[in-house]
Amino acid sequence: MVLVSAKEMLEKAHAGHYAVGQFNINNMEWIKSILAAAEEAKSPVILGVSEGAGKYMAGYKNVVGMVKEIHDFLGVSVPVAIHLDHGSYDGAKKAIEAGFTSVMFDGSHFPFEENVEKSKEIIAYAHGKGISVECEVGGIGGEEDGVASMGELACPEECGKIASLGVDFLAAGIGNIHGKYPENWAGLNFEVLGKIQEATNGIPLVLHGGSGIPADQVAKAIALGVSKINVNTELQLEFAAATRKYVEAGKDLEGKGYDPRKLLAPGAKAIQEKVVAMMKQFGSADKA
Ligand code: 13P
Repeated sequence: MVLVSAKEMLEKAHAGHYAVGQFNINNMEWIKSILAAAEEAKSPVILGVSEGAGKYMAGYKNVVGMVKEIHDFLGVSVPVAIHLDHGSYDGAKKAIEAGFTSVMFDGSHFPFEENVEKSKEIIAYAHGKGISVECEVGGIGGEEDGVASMGELACPEECGKIASLGVDFLAAGIGNIHGKYPENWAGLNFEVLGKIQEATNGIPLVLHGGSGIPADQVAKAIALGVSKINVNTELQLEFAAATRKYVEAGKDLEGKGYDPRKLLAPGAKAIQEKVVAMMKQFGSADKA
């Protein structure tokens, strides 16, 4: 079994004008469903792990162990990368030591020069071990307590500077938001994305907040150099809705419907179906 870095699959995606999904994992059901979906769609895949989800799953080593074992158990043959999402400086090093094949160092909240210095160090450390690196410029908005922040549009010139450090792919704020998009969302800023594409010399770009973006905007973003799309919330919503339906139909009260293998099955199936559909939408199906 070999997990791979995300570099080659994203360079291929960039050259082929499609995007590979980073689907964030939260537990064993997520890992099984996403790996099964990738195999079904014959698509490369990136499993994203936030620092919080890493803790929830009892640490990076356990996450790597689960992914490797499930990968082999299911006989997965498509390229799979395991990637730290929004890693801190220390978190990125720890994930690499635990066996992650790709890391994001998110220094976007530091003053720019500090982001540059720390990004440089993580890139050198990771590349020494064959691990791919994503960095971030600008800010991805998000919803907290019902209040959505729109994030901070990335400065194309700063994106160019980070790209010149040898980073493998770059996340840039272009009006995208983690979590659900509010009714009054202005949409992705393609003018800024176009300038970032020009300034970054053809490195694959990353679109965070990939849940709930209209299909025409996703297609346009891919045409402007986005080769990796991060999705978390959408799968959580699918899982929750399918589980709710099962419970509301009283199925947990029928026979042994309370058995977690039955109770969690509709949610797991819903995740798998959604991931297959998104791989087709992003164009990565049949590209493994
Ligand atoms: P969503 O939860 O909005 O899909 O965003 C995921 C993400 O960007 C992870 O980095």
